[in-house]
Amino acid sequence: MKVIRCHDYETCSAQAAELIADRVRRKPDALVGFATGDTFKSVYARMIQDQKDGKIDYRGIRTVNLDEYVGLPPTHDQSYRYFMDTQLFNELGLDPSRIEFASGMADSEVELPRLHKFFAQNRVDLQLLGVGVNGHMGFNEPDTCLHASFYKAKLTDSTITANSRLFNSRDEVPRFALTMGMGEIMMAHELLFMAFGESKADAVRQLLADDKVTVDCPCTFLKMHPNVTVFVDDAACKAL
Ligand code: GLP
Repeated sequence: MKVIRCHDYETCSAQAAELIADRVRRKPDALVGFATGDTFKSVYARMIQDQKDGKIDYRGIRTVNLDEYVGLPPTHDQSYRYFMDTQLFNELGLDPSRIEFASGMADSEVELPRLHKFFAQNRVDLQLLGVGVNGHMGFNEPDTCLHASFYKAKLTDSTITANSRLFNSRDEVPRFALTMGMGEIMMAHELLFMAFGESKADAVRQLLADDKVTVDCPCTFLKMHPNVTVFVDDAACKAL
């Protein structure tokens, strides 16, 4: 595991955007797995700017995303599809046919087998990962067991509370999401993990301070992946 600790969020984001650009220069049709959340906003803004500046052309990539809330349509401003469309995809001018995304509105009994088939036929080249305050990735929440493949996850109280900052009230936060499973995350050729701020310090401590892998903190599974780069700022390292 390669750990890049930067003083602040913007320095980390610049280096992470450079890593993504490097991988796409080497493989212009790479399948890139994206993540939502505040963590990646600056990275995405930099990717858009790099393309505008002619440093890289992202229009050849294919994409897949980690997760989507159940019950939110892509037009809802808190759906993850809306986030990706507005923060990245539209600005890059990606062809919709190159974008794979879980539907929060489809019947999950139909949607999940469709997504399983996608992962049986495709392997992600570079998967971006943020982390929840309790160590979740995508919506793989701490539990007695984790899931290998895309599944319908029940959000924990801690995640509902953390994500309620983006909704009008806590009641509006969806209780379920479709999320890539841990096995699909671990199958990616390369992982780029980012964590910023003191609220992520405990998850970062569990990831970096020792050799333990535990279902109580799903991001610790990254210790078993052969090709991971971790970007953390000073605040996220506070418990180390
Ligand atoms: C959500 C997403 C995660 C994300 C996490 C942290 O729960 N499902 O994929 O990593 O939030 O978000 P943020 O980057 O806003 O801290």
